[in-house]
Amino acid sequence: MLSWDEFDKEDGEVAAKGNTPAQAAAAATLDKLDSAGGAAALEARAATASDSEAVKRAKAALDALDVAEGLAELEGSSARVAVDEKRMINCRADLNQLVPFKYDWAWQKYLDGCANHWMPQEVNMTADIALWKSQDGLTEDERRIVMRNLGFFSTADSLVANNLALAVYRLITNPECRQYILRQAFEEAIHTHAYQYCIESLGMDEGEIFNMYHEIPSVAKKAAWGLKYTRAISDPEFNTGTVETDKELLRNLIAYYCVLEGIFFYCGFTQILSMGRRNKMTGVAEQFQYILRDESMHLNFGIDVINQIKIENPHLWDAAMKEEATQMILQGTQLEIEYARDTMPRGVLGMNAAMMEDYLKFIANRRLTQIGLKEEYPGTTNPFPWMSEIMDLKKEKNFFETRVIEYQTGGALSWD
Ligand SMILES: [Fe+2]
Ligand SMILES: [Fe+2]
Repeated sequence: MLSWDEFDKEDGEVAAKGNTPAQAAAAATLDKLDSAGGAAALEARAATASDSEAVKRAKAALDALDVAEGLAELEGSSARVAVDEKRMINCRADLNQLVPFKYDWAWQKYLDGCANHWMPQEVNMTADIALWKSQDGLTEDERRIVMRNLGFFSTADSLVANNLALAVYRLITNPECRQYILRQAFEEAIHTHAYQYCIESLGMDEGEIFNMYHEIPSVAKKAAWGLKYTRAISDPEFNTGTVETDKELLRNLIAYYCVLEGIFFYCGFTQILSMGRRNKMTGVAEQFQYILRDESMHLNFGIDVINQIKIENPHLWDAAMKEEATQMILQGTQLEIEYARDTMPRGVLGMNAAMMEDYLKFIANRRLTQIGLKEEYPGTTNPFPWMSEIMDLKKEKNFFETRVIEYQTGGALSWD
């Protein structure tokens, strides 16, 4: 039996293993333990009289198991991983060894995401249900905003989750980033749950809402634009490793992180949060505020991944790719401007489509510069400074320190 005293024993013998006699003794003890354990495990495999035919077959199947072959099928080599072998894409080191970390920011985002955990059922929807069902509770324009946004978001988060799980996860070859991607994928599931919870609480026609991305052109165009960028890389045969396929993955990351999560969500978020600030649909707005907090983290993670890929593969970020990335962000901005017009044909909630257009151009400038491109709408200012309180990267830490603590101690968010 292993005794801790063994580790301290100084017997003066020449060390066979390890540097000191105590270490050699400890190593010898562990070797003995390993061989005793191995023998005991083999003994458990031996057939006994009480084994049924099914148990015998199971044991025999394990006798044929080739451990070396199984491990060889795992991604990467079998050696211990050194930090400088880690790479964002096309990494050849073992991806199942989480540490040592190369990208501390990715692990920190994973921890922050876990600290921000929330569930839709924790939000009180009573006032929203009463307001939604009352005859004169909301104007037609306000109802349209709630319906359109639940319609867009109820499927948009599924598109993002599918893109992560079916395409991106496999191709990002770094375990700390994969850990965050798994957390993000779960958060997307919570977001879809939150929309479903709002739709159910308000007694909306579920078929109408969930099918809007087929039926309402301004919603459908955004969904179709995103889907275009997931088609190639979600093919199970797709692999990175050439300039063209690496660029295809980069395009997907820009489409999903910078445009879908970084632009397509912002008109809807602003509209619903504006409603909450006016003390209308406060439950829905609170759900959206928690979602926005998660989304700003998703966006920042995506920006960091894109920039890291650029650092590690500077040849991918050539003039053609820069032009393409710029075009993608401008197309996304244009689609979101059209969505703003469609959801807000008249002024409502202290905002109008022209103000939203300015806001989206302001956001687009941010997205462009975040990945190292130049602003395309110079001089644009933010007409909704209250939104930047939540979204401004510089204030992100402050935001998390205050709002998250409120959430974690069970306090409701306040609308001031
Ligand atoms: Fe989401
Ligand atoms: Fe997201």
